[in-house]
Amino acid sequence: MQTAEKNRSAKLLDWRYGLVADHIEDRQRVLDLGAGTGWVGKRLIERKESDVSLVDVIDCNETDLPLTVYDGKKIPFGDKTFDIVTFVVVLHHAVKQEEILTEAARVARRKTILVEDTPKNVLEHCIDRACDAVTSFEHGFYNPASYRNVMQWRSVFKKLRLPLIHEHTIKPFFPFYYTKAVFVRDVAGSAATTGE
Ligand SMILES: C[S@@+](CC[C@H](N)C(=O)[O-])C[C@H]1O[C@@H](n2cnc3c(N)ncnc32)[C@H](O)[C@@H]1O
Repeated sequence: MQTAEKNRSAKLLDWRYGLVADHIEDRQRVLDLGAGTGWVGKRLIERKESDVSLVDVIDCNETDLPLTVYDGKKIPFGDKTFDIVTFVVVLHHAVKQEEILTEAARVARRKTILVEDTPKNVLEHCIDRACDAVTSFEHGFYNPASYRNVMQWRSVFKKLRLPLIHEHTIKPFFPFYYTKAVFVRDVAGSAATTGE
């Protein structure tokens, strides 16, 4: 294990990895969009033999994998280049979320997997903001705190005609209560499954 990752919470990264890995088959081609430090993508390579591309609007990559920096609008790959596009706690750092999701749908042959903080009240919103302020300061992430709750994300997927096959509200990693959710859009699917 590399030193930078030792200093980071391996448990938190394992947990994030597990949230997307459940929806990814072995040896698929994955775009980790908003890859950040790169540790989730690294796990996909090591544990699922995924062919992973890391892309972000800044470079705070701590792994030995190549990372492509892009303008946050046009993903620099052709249509259907990837089987899967993942967003792991990324889109609340972006303002034009619908445009980015549409771009992701363009480059994904199959799935878009969205893991998001989905605060459902003022307290959860404050907790999310506080946690994000710390990591954003550490890495220099743009932090507009553009959270949506579960209903609002459902509406976005519906509006963009991206059919959800799975939606899952997650128990928090931290000891205090706040909500995250996983949404999986699949071009081959239509009926959504939901779970807590
Ligand atoms: C909280 S970090 C998550 C990093 C990584 N996905 C993980 O789980 O460890 C959010 C990341 O989203 C990136 N980001 C913000 N706006 C973006 C955009 N429009 N497109 C892609 N990535 C973006 C940030 O630069 C940052 O690396």
